[in-house]
Amino acid sequence: MKDGVNFFEVIKNRKTVRKFADYIPTEDEIKEIIDSARLAPSAVNAQNWKFIAILNADIKQKMADAVLEKYDEIASKLETQEEKDGVNRFRGHSTFFTHAPLLIAVVETKYPAFLDNILENADYSADEIAAMRPDSQLLSMGGAVENMALTAHALGLGSCWMVAPIIAEAAFKKILNLADDDKVVSLLTIGKPADVASIRSPKKNLEDIMQIIK
Ligand SMILES: Cc1cc2nc3c(=O)[nH]c(=O)nc-3n(C[C@H](O)[C@H](O)[C@H](O)COP(=O)(O)O)c2cc1C
Repeated sequence: MKDGVNFFEVIKNRKTVRKFADYIPTEDEIKEIIDSARLAPSAVNAQNWKFIAILNADIKQKMADAVLEKYDEIASKLETQEEKDGVNRFRGHSTFFTHAPLLIAVVETKYPAFLDNILENADYSADEIAAMRPDSQLLSMGGAVENMALTAHALGLGSCWMVAPIIAEAAFKKILNLADDDKVVSLLTIGKPADVASIRSPKKNLEDIMQIIK
């Protein structure tokens, strides 16, 4: 954390940034951000992740093209114009990462979940197992992404956690030369926030989301 940066201020002031200045994050900044993901908690400390920092504009464009292709495919399967328009509204929302100076692909690597196998052997159905077992691997990825978003903010950078582009996950794997077992679960755009006004997304009140049981 930079000198003078207060942890609670980082939590309170981080907000999603979708428009970036020209500044390209340095290798030290990239390392600092990904190191914060490395230190995140993970279920049974599996650390079943890797993080690919993409600065290359051609790769980002290929990924965006794959997302648009996927939306075309989805739209072609829909019957009404209203549904097609609905899909089209997602296109820009899912591809603006081409304008981000840095894009981090968040990759979940394969981890054999011991308890899942045990429950299968004990003859529980897939639905029963799903009800008993939240996806701890994926939850671990969330902690890592949030660490990176907060670290970016502490470094004076902004970020946007993106899941919408993951509709093109199969193509991302090919573009990024990933193994079949790897799963791209999120993208994180990072850069210096552009000098434009941005409002904070409204948040629910604490009393509406909190319960204390004494
Ligand atoms: C799991 C997850 C997925 C998200 N996916 C997208 C996305 O695909 N595109 C996008 O523009 N923002 C995406 N966001 C950002 C949210 O829209 C944003 O966090 C929310 O509006 C709250 O704003 P704040 O981050 O400024 O508090 C995502 C956030 C999370 C946590």
